[in-house]
Amino acid sequence: MLRQVLLSASRSDKVKSLVETAPVTRSLVHRFVAGERTFDAVRVTEHLAAQGLYASIDHLGEDTLDPARARATRDAYVTLLGRLDDAGLAGHAEVSVKLSAIGRYLPGDGEAIALDHARAICEAAKTCGTTVTLDMEDHATTDATLAALRELRADYPWVGAVLQAYLRRTEGDCRDLAGTGSRVRLCKGAYDEPASVAYTDRADVDRNYVRCLKVLMAGGGYPMVATHDPRIIELTGMLAARNRREPGTYEYQMLYGVRPGEQTRLAAQGERVRVYVPYGDQWYGYLMRRLAERPANMTFFLRSLAGR
Ligand code: FDA
Repeated sequence: MLRQVLLSASRSDKVKSLVETAPVTRSLVHRFVAGERTFDAVRVTEHLAAQGLYASIDHLGEDTLDPARARATRDAYVTLLGRLDDAGLAGHAEVSVKLSAIGRYLPGDGEAIALDHARAICEAAKTCGTTVTLDMEDHATTDATLAALRELRADYPWVGAVLQAYLRRTEGDCRDLAGTGSRVRLCKGAYDEPASVAYTDRADVDRNYVRCLKVLMAGGGYPMVATHDPRIIELTGMLAARNRREPGTYEYQMLYGVRPGEQTRLAAQGERVRVYVPYGDQWYGYLMRRLAERPANMTFFLRSLAGR
């Protein structure tokens, strides 16, 4: 219930201005977001690299209806990739991109504009020798995102995508994308989805995650196991052994600010661990999804709002 309220608030402009102007919000934002500037994303990547961790960097923003903002987001990624290269960090970081941040919802030919912007970002990633992963948004965009993935992979075969285990269709999508050369980031899913398309019971989502993970780990692609769930992390190790996969033929991924001790523990064991690092000033929707994931985060937030 609370989760649904928070997720619908994540798309409300009224709640957005309330939360953005609350003085206490900033410390909570800093727990999950690297900072507002390119410099902050590079600094955090450097810090992660020093701990043996990799990064996937997200320039925050989504659902833009402004062509100038979509172009600015594209340019921010291109600048970021250049800075990572200059700092010698391109081998430690890739970028994650939401198609709705680079124009998918612009009137007229939004999908085509987003695809063009995505190509520019892929070209910059190619120049510095790293990769791009397409984030997955709500279920209404899944087909279009997978179509964009196919288009991009024709020229940039290393482009990856996210699949969400809460969607009923995802086991089939995993089968389609489990082949050699494909990179799939499997997560549980963070949006408010109807029961017609998604499992709504957490245990059912977890069971589907396990089914999908088995498909990816048995396939020829590069599974990116994006979860903080200790049971799934343990299972991944068992599936790697069963499928004779060495560390580096798959990787663990977690969010910046969530279970950092587990991130370094796995890396110290020789596993490849990538941290999803968001930066920028458009943090509202991202923060609300992180609050919705964990009631304890919400309690902390409400207490701060009440000044306690
Ligand atoms: P679950 O929510 O069951 O949490 C397991 C445990 O992890 C909790 O008990 C708690 O200990 C810890 N935990 C989880 N979330 C926490 C939080 N916010 N704060 C503190 N502790 C927390 N979603 C999506 O729809 N589209 C996408 O493109 C992506 N991309 C993405 C990339 C990466 C690298 C990750 C790790 C996740 C995403 N997600 C996402 C988000 C994902 O769908 C999911 O909402 C979160 O990862 C939380 O789910 P868990 O698998 O961690 O399990």
